[in-house]
Amino acid sequence: MNTSSTAYINGQFVPLSEVTISPLDRGFVFGDGVYEVIPVYHGVAFRLDEHLLRLNNSLSAIRLDNPYSDEKWATVLNQLIEENQAGDQSLYIQITRGVAERDHAFPETSAATIFAMSKPLPASQQAPIKAITLQDIRWQWCHIKSTALLGNLLLRQQAIDRGCQEAILLRDGVLTEGAASNVFIVKDGVILTPQKSNQILPGITRDIVVELAEENNVAIAETEISEQQLLSADEIWVTSATKEIAPVIELNGKPINSGKIGPACQVMQKLFNQFKQTLRNQ
Ligand code: PDD
Repeated sequence: MNTSSTAYINGQFVPLSEVTISPLDRGFVFGDGVYEVIPVYHGVAFRLDEHLLRLNNSLSAIRLDNPYSDEKWATVLNQLIEENQAGDQSLYIQITRGVAERDHAFPETSAATIFAMSKPLPASQQAPIKAITLQDIRWQWCHIKSTALLGNLLLRQQAIDRGCQEAILLRDGVLTEGAASNVFIVKDGVILTPQKSNQILPGITRDIVVELAEENNVAIAETEISEQQLLSADEIWVTSATKEIAPVIELNGKPINSGKIGPACQVMQKLFNQFKQTLRNQ
């Protein structure tokens, strides 16, 4: 971990190692906060407007005012990118309900804690992964990008314990998402992904994939996907800011597409990479 990178805490840019947060912060005590993970390519925050809109939606859902306007966020994040060498990186933003005496009820007055940091993008982006299916034991408001991720952690760890990288989740026999990603399948040449609902996080990467498929006349549908459809899929991939489009080549110990990256996944990875390239040329 690079603790000498520059972080942002409540208005100040400081080395990450110098950030201090009170043990009474409601983020620490209750997980009472929300977050964003924003990839940065060539010094440009990817889909910043969409990330800031989702941040705003998460804040509204937990009844916390956005401490900053979008313009102010852009200024803070651009300075953070600059301070951290301006190249490719991943930004993390967290806002909590701040410091207060421990009480489940919201404090009458408290200043939000505003934190942001940068770290390198993982080298494993788009790398093939193995996954297992698990029952989605999380709460019903998965559309909120909440820092209270214990359900996600416990699920993902079960996958890791079984030599896999992701858990693909099913609620009442219906596909929801990955423990830290959205899921796409391919059946008979059509790409399918679950519709947005409060059962899944509205992934920014997911939206780009849907958009790029539609713009390029690649057959795609947002629809309910049964366990049976998932298990008999021709291809499966997961998407996230840090994984981009990662093919699942093995599910529950069985190879998918003979353990190779499928043709539809390759098409979408290519379109995604071209789209990213347009940022580099700006
Ligand atoms: N997580 N669903 C869940 C539960 C996630 O945690 C994530 C991403 C996604 C994909 O969203 P996006 O495409 O906007 O990254 C879907 C981030 C990367 C994380 O928690 O680190």
